[in-house]
Amino acid sequence: MYLLWKTLHIMSFFLAFGFFMAPNLFALVALRSRDGAAIRRTVEGAKIFDRLGGMSVGLGVIFGIVTALTGEISLLSGWLVTAYIMLALIIIVGEGIVAPRLRRVAAAIGEQGTLNPEAEALIRSSGLSVLILIPPLLFLTVVYVMVNKPFA
Ligand code: HEM
Repeated sequence: MYLLWKTLHIMSFFLAFGFFMAPNLFALVALRSRDGAAIRRTVEGAKIFDRLGGMSVGLGVIFGIVTALTGEISLLSGWLVTAYIMLALIIIVGEGIVAPRLRRVAAAIGEQGTLNPEAEALIRSSGLSVLILIPPLLFLTVVYVMVNKPFA
């Protein structure tokens, strides 16, 4: 059973990575294209992936906890606490900072889909081109933590 839970845990987080990261990376491409309509469409299209990503994270955490319990691994071991903190950071940066900033840019672009000066200024001051890359890098770091188990 242990291997089954672990497999489901890894599959869930793979799905979460895809659901969260693909739309954000597309948004980065759209932002760089300076094409207002493309930016709006990408941000609108990301909403469903945000929801699916959230569900996958929920499943991943549940399967992770079940894996730990069936493998007699302490839920308070250093590497797991590190993972909780990093997962919280992923959610704070991704959902608390990146997503609202993208939505603000999309709202400034508006129905007509042109990159007006307000949207331009928001993109320039938002730091999005760097912020968008933080959650995927943190995700990769959690994989390192899971496999190598530092601070055992
Ligand atoms: C936050 C809650 C999490 C919990 C409770 C959790 C729990 C666990 C447990 C108990 C194992 C089994 C370790 C072993 O077999 O030695 C494991 C393995 C693994 N987890 Fe997590 N995990 C969490 C988050 C994550 C995240 C966010 C990712 C991906 C980004 C991830 C990816 C992996 C991978 C790739 C393995 C396989 C490591 C190996 O077998 O060497 N986990 N996890």
